[in-house]
Amino acid sequence: MKSFAVSSIALLAGLISTTSAQTHTDCNPLNTTGCPNMQALGGNATFNWNKTGIIQNDKVWRMPNQGKIDWDGYGATFTIERSGDSPTANSVFYMLFGRLEVVMRVAKGKGIISSAILQSEDLDEVDWEFQGSSPQILTNYYGKGDNTTADRGENFDLDFVPQDDFHNYTLDWTKDRIQWWVDDKQIRELKYAEAEGGTRYPQTPMNVRIGAWAAGDVTKNQKGVVEWAGGETDFSEGPFTMTVKTVYAKDYTSASEYSWEDMDSSGDWQKVKVIEGKSDVLQEIQSPSGVTERWDALSKGAKIGIIAGALGGAALAAVAMLFFCVKQRRAGRREAQALLTQEQKEAAELSEYKSQMQSGKFGLGSNRV
Ligand SMILES: *[C@@H]1O[C@H](CO)[C@@H](O)[C@H](O)[C@H]1NC(C)=O
Ligand SMILES: *[C@@H]1O[C@H](CO)[C@@H](O)[C@H](O)[C@H]1NC(C)=O
Ligand SMILES: *[C@@H]1O[C@H](CO)[C@@H](O)[C@H](O)[C@H]1NC(C)=O
Ligand SMILES: *[C@@H]1O[C@H](CO)[C@@H](O)[C@H](O)[C@H]1NC(C)=O
Ligand SMILES: *[C@@H]1O[C@H](CO)[C@@H](O)[C@H](O)[C@H]1NC(C)=O
Repeated sequence: MKSFAVSSIALLAGLISTTSAQTHTDCNPLNTTGCPNMQALGGNATFNWNKTGIIQNDKVWRMPNQGKIDWDGYGATFTIERSGDSPTANSVFYMLFGRLEVVMRVAKGKGIISSAILQSEDLDEVDWEFQGSSPQILTNYYGKGDNTTADRGENFDLDFVPQDDFHNYTLDWTKDRIQWWVDDKQIRELKYAEAEGGTRYPQTPMNVRIGAWAAGDVTKNQKGVVEWAGGETDFSEGPFTMTVKTVYAKDYTSASEYSWEDMDSSGDWQKVKVIEGKSDVLQEIQSPSGVTERWDALSKGAKIGIIAGALGGAALAAVAMLFFCVKQRRAGRREAQALLTQEQKEAAELSEYKSQMQSGKFGLGSNRV
């Protein structure tokens, strides 16, 4: 694969506009105090998205972006129907070292990117990425968002077509090494010291982000991004669907929360404060009523985010304000403020997701067979 670089100015033009504050990205724990605690998984969980209980309503997974997530009997379907769709499921929970197994069928279609990644609030990141028109798999990682070197990404040929069938893509992440597994084969290992002496090694609590987007959308993305994605997306050939059958996650720390309280600019894992106890997420997963949420049960905030995304950035503010006003009358100022904050966070995450994707952060690297 050819690697390329995209300038930040060029990228800004391609970003979806959002009207809300960057509440999510503003708090960089490496140089800011008081960043909020993260909920831990603190154990293991299997998400069987081949059953109707798709995504637990905001307590376990959130869907910040525009685009349809549904169910088709095989799994949760992440469908791109039109320009601007980028259906994404983000885990509410974080893991401090851990394991992620995603059994999925990759979306077919020129310029369509399917991804399953781990990412932290200070932009540590470990990636699986697929182009919709290529049988290759792209692996990548980032430490503290540093994208100044082009030697982190590696592409691999597979002995199957990932768009045709379900396969198991596993990340195993410890303080010493990260392994990428495809089914029962390890295809890559990164040792701590190999990431610039560990300074660029992912080592802060990461959450799970699974989704698909049209990097080949010429109305939204720069030429370089479209080329990187494998070419221009023709939406009339859609819809484009990525299907996720199961997700297994295991946190290697048994925490209830992670805190940035003791963090400094090093971003070292030793500076992450582990708050012991049973996590709310694990409690939710293990409660009998906790697994039945579907689209219908999505939070109003998430629905508004998706609808507003369809309408465009400016409309988001209007809808959010309308919701704010209605809600304010009904539920009082404090509750309304909390809802609005959540909506802003979701909108900010949409923007962050876009910029992270569009910054061409994926698959810049060498070819491996
Ligand atoms: C690298 O990261 C910076 C800061 O996050 C961003 O502005 C820039 O667009 C990124 N560049 C590339 C080539 O991804
Ligand atoms: C923290 O670092 C980020 C990324 O480098 C930067 O955008 C932000 O302005 C910094 N914040 C403070 C308070 O220094
Ligand atoms: C998952 O956690 C449960 C306890 O909640 C434990 O019994 C089980 O062995 C764990 N499974 C794996 C694969 O780690
Ligand atoms: C869902 O997947 C699990 C494990 O892959 C399997 O045991 C179960 O039968 C499947 N359920 C349905 C409804 O397909
Ligand atoms: C996925 O692959 C890994 C590595 O071979 C294996 O340990 C794990 O059991 C597999 N998980 C599923 C759900 O098939």
